[in-house]
Amino acid sequence: MSLLPIHLLGSPVLREPSAPVAEVTAEVRRLVDDMFETMEAAEGVGLAANQVGQAVRIAVVDAEGSRIVMINPIISEASGKDREEEGCLSIPDVYGEVTRPERIVLEATGKDGAPYRLEADGLLARVIQHEIDHLDGILFLDRLSPMKRRLLVAKYRREHKEGGGLLREVARPSGRTP
Ligand code: NI
Repeated sequence: MSLLPIHLLGSPVLREPSAPVAEVTAEVRRLVDDMFETMEAAEGVGLAANQVGQAVRIAVVDAEGSRIVMINPIISEASGKDREEEGCLSIPDVYGEVTRPERIVLEATGKDGAPYRLEADGLLARVIQHEIDHLDGILFLDRLSPMKRRLLVAKYRREHKEGGGLLREVARPSGRTP
């Protein structure tokens, strides 16, 4: 397995709609493994494939004890409303409150190639929706008011000066062997 660099705000691939996965091949499974490793090293709760530079409909989630592989995911039902703070591995140090449905039904294909259905609420539902947004080229910033978005983008640009690049190398947690 290998750690993959994470694309940061401004990288065009984050705005690209991702292509459906035709078949769960060995290559797809390897990408899923690398994404889990990268997400864990970056201490994230979710990661979409375009965040590691591949615009395909694959995302991984590790939240509230659920470790989920989502290939070609869709939200088939959504209800309620919930407002909580979100962040994103592609926009470090920036957080904003996002309103989303509170309960969802996820339909996706797993790493074994089999379709599944999952009911989720709370943080898990939020992370799943955040990652599916990524696959559609949407960032959580897009779901904030225009004023809040401008403020946060300005803060991000201040703290991440030009020349820092659009890739973030993720390091393995110290004390762990590669
Ligand atoms: Ni994100």
